[in-house]
Amino acid sequence: MSIRHFKSLLDINKKEFIRILDRSLELKKLSRQNQLPDSLSKMTLALIFKKNSTRTRVSLETAINKLGGNAVYISHLTSQIGRGESITDTGKVLSGMVDFIAIRTHEHNELVELCEVSTIPVINALTQKFHPCQLLADMLTFYEEKGDFEDKTFSWVGDGCNMCHSYINASKILGFNLKIATPNGFEPDISVLNSASDTVELCDLPGKAVENSDLVTTDVWASMGDEEDHERRKSLFKGYQINQNIMDKANDDAIFLHCLPAHRDEEVTAEVIDGKCSRVWEQSHNRLYTTQALLEFLKEVND
Ligand code: CP
Ligand code: NVA
Repeated sequence: MSIRHFKSLLDINKKEFIRILDRSLELKKLSRQNQLPDSLSKMTLALIFKKNSTRTRVSLETAINKLGGNAVYISHLTSQIGRGESITDTGKVLSGMVDFIAIRTHEHNELVELCEVSTIPVINALTQKFHPCQLLADMLTFYEEKGDFEDKTFSWVGDGCNMCHSYINASKILGFNLKIATPNGFEPDISVLNSASDTVELCDLPGKAVENSDLVTTDVWASMGDEEDHERRKSLFKGYQINQNIMDKANDDAIFLHCLPAHRDEEVTAEVIDGKCSRVWEQSHNRLYTTQALLEFLKEVND
């Protein structure tokens, strides 16, 4: 049997996406009632992380622990990966010891190579190309407050990075319109963009991208791995800040999301991220429930 992994959102269809969101809401309710099931009892998740993380690491470890399983964190700094052992050899070893692998790395191709050898489900915990786990939480945050995605408009302003790519994938699957404004030279990858040409539109200016929008989002101007370019980007991205003036162009009840960590007064003003349209804390908490639902989903479809 071929294993179903979670390399990107394109590994699930719309029905499965909604199934994960609905189960996330159930798990959120059960968690608050202190009635979570032992659905991942005796299962182990290995986390291979080559980059920093707060939310993704904590949500993955906590998600499996609360459902009766456990997690092993493998840093590249202290494991044999840091001394040159390949991800594929590591994956073959872990396949015989644990039940899931989550990996956060630079090159998306490294994740793809791991999936090719792994006999257990692999989860993308962020690569330079995609961040699908974050999108599950973003979509849950919208879905639980506003409902369905059809006929909705979402806006991406800023770097055409891994988060932007995952919004493009979500737009293709869930059917919302996505308007994107990036500085010249920072557009999303053309192949990712072309894959969702029916639902995604590139706009010249941030103001255009947020018109009639139900959800406005952005990300840091320099992602992990781009730090040395941060100073140059600060001037190139200046006009792409989400401030109150930009939010006022969106629909009156539009919400603001940010995957975090944020740089206040760079990509978003404190007034917006700490203001009344911001849902960033709810969004970060939703990482836990969507991760629990994703782990259950991967267990079920690979049984
Ligand atoms: N949003 C997100 O993935 O945060 P971390 O980098 O802290 O995991
Ligand atoms: N685009 C950011 C997301 C961090 C969660 C990065 O890759 O650093």
